[in-house]
Amino acid sequence: MFLRNQWYVAGWAHQFEPGAIVARKIVDEPLVLYRAEAGHVVAMEDRCCHRFAPLSRGRLEGDAIRCMYHGMKFASDGRCVEIPAQDVIPEGMRVRVHAVVEKDRWVWVWMGDPARADPDLIPHALYHDDPNWLIGTGQMGYDANYQLIHDNLLDLTHLSFVHENTLGRGSPAWGTARPSVTPIDRGVRVSRWLRDRGTSPYVRMPQQKWDAWASYDFVLPGVFLLRTAFYSTATASGFPDGPPGDLEPAYVIVTSQAVTPVSERETIYYYSGGQLRRHGSSALIRDQIRAFGVAFLEDKAMIEAQQKIIDATPDRSMMTLTFDRATAMFRRLMATLIEQEAKNRARIGRVDLAAAQ
Ligand code: FES
Ligand SMILES: [Fe+2]
Repeated sequence: MFLRNQWYVAGWAHQFEPGAIVARKIVDEPLVLYRAEAGHVVAMEDRCCHRFAPLSRGRLEGDAIRCMYHGMKFASDGRCVEIPAQDVIPEGMRVRVHAVVEKDRWVWVWMGDPARADPDLIPHALYHDDPNWLIGTGQMGYDANYQLIHDNLLDLTHLSFVHENTLGRGSPAWGTARPSVTPIDRGVRVSRWLRDRGTSPYVRMPQQKWDAWASYDFVLPGVFLLRTAFYSTATASGFPDGPPGDLEPAYVIVTSQAVTPVSERETIYYYSGGQLRRHGSSALIRDQIRAFGVAFLEDKAMIEAQQKIIDATPDRSMMTLTFDRATAMFRRLMATLIEQEAKNRARIGRVDLAAAQ
């Protein structure tokens, strides 16, 4: 089950080259995307309305796309504008078009009711377009349900175990620190101090211990925005609720990550890593993205193995521990919204049916 009235990341802006046709699937709906001549990205259902051939096997003709089965041509608003073997184009010959917004180097596609596609609902990725920051990007596919990836990101105690030798740096700090978990608009905020922490291999910092304030928002439909700021040790004991804004951190690293459901058992995960330009360098950003890639393969191995067990034992229930609070809050939010959407669809269906009778 998916939320449809949401903006989903369909890819990095650089993946949509002029003249290229890109096929994607989001919430089980095949899409075809391309850049119109004016530069904006167009997203349509990847299904010709004639005999359902995929338009992604088609040909771009200016702003239009031609189905390469029997040649129907569709304008970027989805209207059929040409049928080679027929002069009259019947009313209603069109394919569905989705709203698209390009923001923070991500291409966002609205998968629900077009009337509700409000661009203000799109989360702000951290500094993707800020010249003061260096940002690297990556992505990874999972053969698993997207909510298992949400759970993973909402509970970073796993860094001390899944990532024991990578992001966890052999320290139990992530596993033992008690984060504060607060509801925020459309999501959850999770913050904690990591005390006496060593540095990461991809930062230019003295090899000493630091206190790190790691705080992230996890917001609909599955976007993770983490900022980790390093301070001298003892800062954590002076400011247990997080450092005051006027205390300059020695170093800051950020990451933005978007979980896009492809189908019930496939997910794509887009991630960035960033450092302040005055702190880092392009080489360090490359190292950061490489390190993320290695660590996320650890998540992928664990989550795909977990998915297999879930599928093999569907009647068993999971148990909840105290540190599952953020996970449980976000699962509840998702379940409530999925239920609301299902009720609305049923209500609209009844209205349509009544109108048809
Ligand atoms: S299937 Fe596209 S024109 Fe026939
Ligand atoms: Fe992880």
